[in-house]
Amino acid sequence: MPDTTLHLTTTSIEQTIAFGQYIGQHLEAADLILLCGGLGAGKTHLTKGIVAGLGSGDTVTSPTYVFINEYRLSAQRTVFHVDLYRAEDPHELASIGLDDALSGHGTCIIEWPERDPSLFALPHLAIELTINTTGSRDIAMHALGSRASALIAIIRTTWLNGTTL
Ligand SMILES: Nc1ncnc2c1ncn2[C@@H]1O[C@H](COP(=O)(O)OP(=O)(O)OP(=O)(O)O)[C@@H](O)[C@H]1O
Ligand SMILES: [Mg+2]
Repeated sequence: MPDTTLHLTTTSIEQTIAFGQYIGQHLEAADLILLCGGLGAGKTHLTKGIVAGLGSGDTVTSPTYVFINEYRLSAQRTVFHVDLYRAEDPHELASIGLDDALSGHGTCIIEWPERDPSLFALPHLAIELTINTTGSRDIAMHALGSRASALIAIIRTTWLNGTTL
């Protein structure tokens, strides 16, 4: 049985972005990433790294008010960056185009997925960031499904062995 959880710590914003970039390099088109953690935990900065690692030169900004940003990877590929912080009721959730973002046409990264608990039933890699008293970030990952489990296995054998830090 593969281990579907993994923990690590980043001690600077640059390290969080670099870790995101590393994840992005290993993502595939239909992967779903759920980013959990409180305000200012580092979800958007991790996303900056993921989007860069996926190969997009687009600037990542927080989609808190627009709900979904779409970044280009190539003519065929795209990445959806969703922020559900302000999506407080089911009607709002239904109207923001989440189904489209989850249709498998692109990699989907969702901040504040707790707003729609049904997301956690889909195959996904959940990444939870926690602010430590020192200001460093604990990053806890949980995989649901074979793809996300494979991602965790890759991260365990390469990033944690110090090849990238
Ligand atoms: N190790 C670290 N990793 C990430 N961010 C860090 C770190 N140390 C300090 N920071 C700071 O924490 C803040 C993280 O902001 P960010 O917008 O990424 O958080 P967020 O989780 O997306 O918040 P929100 O829930 O409001 O969307 C930034 O101001 C960043 O400079
Ligand atoms: Mg954010």
